[in-house]
Amino acid sequence: MTALASDSPLLKPITLGSIVAANRILMAPLTRSRAHDDGTPSDLQVEYYRQRARAGLVIAEGTQPSQVGKGYTNTPGIHNDAQQAGWATIADAVHDEGGKIVVQLMHAGRMSHPDNSGEQAIAPSAIAPEGVQMFTKNGMKDIPVPRALETDELPALVEDFVNASRHAIAAGLDGVEIHAANGYVLHEFLSDSENVRTDSYGGSADNRARFVVEVVTAVSEAIGADKVGIRISPGHAAGGMTEKDYVDTYLSLVRQIDGLGLAYLHVLIEPTDPVLAAVKTVWHGPLLLNTGFGLDSDRDALEGLIANGTADAVTVGRPYISNPDLVERWTRGAELNENDQATWYGGGAEGYTDYPTLSEVSV
Ligand SMILES: Cc1cc2nc3c(=O)[nH]c(=O)nc-3n(C[C@H](O)[C@H](O)[C@H](O)COP(=O)(O)O)c2cc1C
Repeated sequence: MTALASDSPLLKPITLGSIVAANRILMAPLTRSRAHDDGTPSDLQVEYYRQRARAGLVIAEGTQPSQVGKGYTNTPGIHNDAQQAGWATIADAVHDEGGKIVVQLMHAGRMSHPDNSGEQAIAPSAIAPEGVQMFTKNGMKDIPVPRALETDELPALVEDFVNASRHAIAAGLDGVEIHAANGYVLHEFLSDSENVRTDSYGGSADNRARFVVEVVTAVSEAIGADKVGIRISPGHAAGGMTEKDYVDTYLSLVRQIDGLGLAYLHVLIEPTDPVLAAVKTVWHGPLLLNTGFGLDSDRDALEGLIANGTADAVTVGRPYISNPDLVERWTRGAELNENDQATWYGGGAEGYTDYPTLSEVSV
């Protein structure tokens, strides 16, 4: 690989609401299951994020806004003071290196097991993910049927997102990303197969978008829309869900949140999917693109997607796992470290904080 041109669009700064990112090679949220059992972030996480602070923006891993929102083992939370204190240490570490960091608020909804959260999962409707097993503290298990939320419980769920956002700002993080993608609770509200509600939150595309709009609006009012991003993955068939009318649903959602002044819209999608072009007709803020699991995040392809106006910036997942200095490696056209999939989730420093930087390799 050759070095990037100094005027490469990947290396240009970008303003995302109140955040100025030094480059457009942003770090995608990546669950790594290295938090303590009680959801407080560990010292290893502090080191991991410090190492990756040169990403224009670090979007930290899916983090539960409440205990029932916890899906997997050893994911961090951000709903109490102890968790906030841990995130404050992470924020300081990233800021000391000159970086920016937001945390992704991920309520797992039905993609959760009581062995991990200690509670029965909640969801828009009582429908279990199809044929999906989950890694729990007690091994692989089927995911049980979640409890459907009553209409009068929804304000409390909005409040969980608001409370978590306040903790994030109090921790010194630069903002939050609301996770409405990948089959978790907000995505479940959007889906026609997982949301069969008969109240005003189910049925039409507008109704299914309603709850997500309420969460984004409430969080924006609490901490400022310029510190709030949202991630969507239109049509992503997570846990067997379908989104038959996904263009309508996402047009409804994006049209309603466009005027809030959010920091960014983060879309996980193959760039040629027609929903991306459709959504862009109603979105006027910064657009971050993640090309998804189907395509590898390739430097030159991503540069082209910014150059041709498909996206304003890109987020990169797996290459950041194994290359803490990805920005430097891509800038210089250097080789990347090999990624060890066996150490993605859980465990200690191995495969987490021990991937070498270029300077460590050349010592
Ligand atoms: C180990 C791992 C953990 C992930 N955790 C999250 C997560 O917490 N939240 C999220 O929105 N996406 C998550 N993703 C998806 C990534 O953000 C990204 O969309 C995906 O890796 C595709 O991008 P890439 O080709 O650059 O890796 C995860 C992916 C991987 C590989």
